[in-house]
Amino acid sequence: MGEITQQNLTKAFSGESQANRKYLAFSNKADQEGYGQIAKLFRAAAEGEAIHALSHLSKMGVVSSTEENLKAAISGETEEFENMYPKMIEEADQEDEVASKNGFSNANEVEKIHATLYRKALDNLGKNEDVDYYICGVCGYVAESEAPDVCPVCGAPMSSFRIIN
Ligand code: FE2
Ligand code: FE2
Ligand code: FE2
Repeated sequence: MGEITQQNLTKAFSGESQANRKYLAFSNKADQEGYGQIAKLFRAAAEGEAIHALSHLSKMGVVSSTEENLKAAISGETEEFENMYPKMIEEADQEDEVASKNGFSNANEVEKIHATLYRKALDNLGKNEDVDYYICGVCGYVAESEAPDVCPVCGAPMSSFRIIN
């Protein structure tokens, strides 16, 4: 593939992915403000941006076999908790950005769990147990089989968890 197109796909994937999440946040805000129709429009556009993101991603050659995808996911998560977040936590600390520091710290802890769960899945590939996952709606912590009374990462109560099945 042409080098510039490769770079453009990466850029477009990144922009479309961000627009998807941003529009969902805008949609929630519109709902809170009582603008149900606008909330719906943001959700519709968000869905369109997700389709664009996935279309670009499909040309980038990064979706491989599940075994390779698990390895890529482990390496991405590991990079985040070994390098990216520790540096960001330190920098937020230096700038006294407490809320951002806490957000980075929570994400950092959760990425370790993601990596562990991916590792376990990879080690058991083909004979993975059928379990549901419970995700903390505050920090993204993932629990297997049942939600904990309190999130071990952010302290949110069990009611903050939703099931992924
Ligand atoms: Fe788009
Ligand atoms: Fe993660
Ligand atoms: Fe949490």
